[in-house]
Amino acid sequence: MQNNTFSALFVGQNLLTLKEVNSTNDFLKNLLSNSKPLPEGTVIMAESQFAGRGQQLNKWYSQPGKNLTFSLLLNPSFLAIADQFDLNRVISLGVVDALEPLLGNDLKIKWPNDIYYGDKKLGGILIENIIQGAQLKHAIIGIGLNINQDSFPADAGNATSLKQILHKDYDLRALLSDICSHIEEWYLKLRTAKKETVRNAYLDRLYWLNQQKQFRSNNSTFKGVITHVKNNGLLVVINEQGAELEFSLKEIEFLNK
Ligand code: BTN
Repeated sequence: MQNNTFSALFVGQNLLTLKEVNSTNDFLKNLLSNSKPLPEGTVIMAESQFAGRGQQLNKWYSQPGKNLTFSLLLNPSFLAIADQFDLNRVISLGVVDALEPLLGNDLKIKWPNDIYYGDKKLGGILIENIIQGAQLKHAIIGIGLNINQDSFPADAGNATSLKQILHKDYDLRALLSDICSHIEEWYLKLRTAKKETVRNAYLDRLYWLNQQKQFRSNNSTFKGVITHVKNNGLLVVINEQGAELEFSLKEIEFLNK
């Protein structure tokens, strides 16, 4: 493990950088179960992942050495299991706040926790909670952000990178340090019971909030407006008939055309 000059108090203070790993989430999970207790805030960063994982069993591809792929350990035992979506909120807000000076207001959080610039995906977050009894014992927070990658394969969908947007290369360690500080800031707000601040800030940054858009659910498409995200993380969309519908992650797709 390395000590760092990161400005956060604990997030990223214990940093391990790996050349290559299957998945930083899996590595951190193994470390947690096989070794002596790990300090909260431990970060595992990899130059390359050969089995990077995304949400909903998707794979996460990232050109080696070009992007940020890392996992962070938090121990949010203060958080009720019913409120676990607040973790998604604080992590997305931390990432967005770190990138805001570079990208400004076009940076959004696509529910539940994709990082979007305009209509393109700049990064994603995979949170895996370890629950013991009635407690959220650990959260393994995997973050993938496209930074210096010049181009993406045709099947990468709507991916973009900082390099594609700003035509410059960025220092990965410096960005990681900023992200750690901002995540810590939001996490501490949550820990000191400022839930409403966190929830409002998340909603303020939400992609497609209060706009009439096209969605697909249950094999049919419909127009609707995202009005809210419930405390438990369900997305609330009002359809053209005025019905308030609630969706979990697998139940709704955003249609960009
Ligand atoms: C998504 O948008 O589907 C989430 C992507 C999460 C990718 C990151 S990269 C670091 C960490 N390790 C993994 O295997 N996945 C996450």
